[in-house]
Parts: sequence; C-alpha cells; structure tokens
Amino acid sequence: MSSSAPIGVFDSGVGGLSILREIRTLLPHEDLIYLADSGHCPYGTKPPEEIRRRTLEVSRVLAAEGVKAIVVACNAACTAGLEAIRAAHPGLPVVGVEPALKPAHGRSRNGRIGVLATQLTLRGSRFSGLMERYGDGVQVFTQAAPGLVELVESGQTATSAAETMLRSYLEPLLEQGIDTLVLGCTHYPFLRPLIQKLAGPELLVLDTGAAVARQTERVLTERGLMNEDKAPGRDRFYTSGDLRQVAPVIRQLWGDPQLAVLQVPES
Ligand code: SIN
Repeated sequence: MSSSAPIGVFDSGVGGLSILREIRTLLPHEDLIYLADSGHCPYGTKPPEEIRRRTLEVSRVLAAEGVKAIVVACNAACTAGLEAIRAAHPGLPVVGVEPALKPAHGRSRNGRIGVLATQLTLRGSRFSGLMERYGDGVQVFTQAAPGLVELVESGQTATSAAETMLRSYLEPLLEQGIDTLVLGCTHYPFLRPLIQKLAGPELLVLDTGAAVARQTERVLTERGLMNEDKAPGRDRFYTSGDLRQVAPVIRQLWGDPQLAVLQVPES
C-alpha cells in the first residue's frame, strides 16, 4: 500500500462532507476521494441488509480507485455495514463514525443530553453499546428525525421548511431541559446554524467530524501511511446520483462553485 494513495470517504449522500471538511483541515497533504452515494440516499430508511450490500459495493468502488484507507462518514452505514466492510477489505484501514455520546457525557453540565439521528442509528447495536458505555450518570433523550437528510440533500439548510421540521424535532428535546445535543447523522452539522438559532447559543451542539479526522490521522500514522509529500492534497468528488441535482449541492456545501463532480465509476 502506497502512502501517496488517496483516502476514500463515503456517505449515503452529501452529509459526509462535514467529515471530509475536518479531514481536509487536519490532513492538508493527503489526497481525498469523496463518494456521495446519492443514487441510494437515504440509507436510514432502508433495511440493514440492503444498506450492507450497498456499502460493500461502494467500498469496492473506492478500493478499485486504489485508496489507502476508507472513512465511512455515515452513521447509518456504520450501523448496518461497518464490520462487513472491514471483513471485505482486511488489508485496508476502515474508520467509522459514531454519535458523540462520549464527549457529551464529559461536557454536559446538567447531565441531560439529546441525540438527534435516524431511526436506524438509534435502534442499532452500535448506539446501544454507546449507551451502555456512556449512558451512566446522565439522562439521554433520543429523537429520530426523518426528513432532515432529504432536506440537506436538496441543499435546504436554511429554508423555512428546514426550520419548521427542525423545530418539531428540537422542541421535545428542549422540553426535557437538555444542555447538550449530539448530532448522530453526518448530514446534520450543515443544519447547525439553524439549530443554534432555534435552540439558542447556550445549547452545546456536538458532532464527530474532528474526532473522525484525528482517528484517521492516528490509523494512518500507526500503519506508516501518512503522505510524505508536502504538496497540498487534491480532492476528487463522485456521486452515484443525478449529477445535475447533486453537483450543485456538493458545490454549495463545499463552498466552491467551480468544483468538478464526476459520475461514480462502476466497479
Ligand atoms: C441516511 O442516509 O439516512 C443517514 C446518513 C447518516 O446516518 O449519517
């Protein structure tokens, strides 16, 4: 495995760009490939077996691109398929994401924590494992949020439709007196400005982007896979969805109106 190979990052759609942004910031010399599986988004409403099959397919596309590591930047994909991806690529480091319950446990002042995620993530064994480890001594209130992924996928991060839907999911959590909110889906960080507007600046809102970037760095360092070349890393973007719809949203969320977005190569 060459240390100059790119890192592959994927999500059901554009949400994983919130993770990619942190990886780009922490690892400026790495080449990155992002794959938005928008043709199959959302994952969270699909049966776990279907997500597992799909995520295996996507990981094969990235492996065929010659990546040196895969970051599964999607909570639903990790819930359904992380172990299957690891098993399918034994020589490749595979980094997953998980809702930030650990930091929330350490940082909540009143011990009342809200978690916003897809139903699939909240029902999964990864989440119940986190609850066993970090649920003691705090109260955790969960809220499934169907529809938020689709809003972000259509670039609606600040519309009145987004505000109305978000309010309906935040209110029950705020009524419980939470002081910390965990964003358990990688799409939701793009709604953070709206969340803070609705909930107020004193609500501590946590996501996992920076922690995933650090974990990626750790894994690459341990395996001697950090890029030695100090030139700025390049970014390549793919989608399995309709380019005319998805490319403008990727450009909007990545903040580059000229960004090239390519159709996903078939494996
Ligand atoms: C989804 O595609 O339904 C959600 C993605 C995530 O859980 O991060």
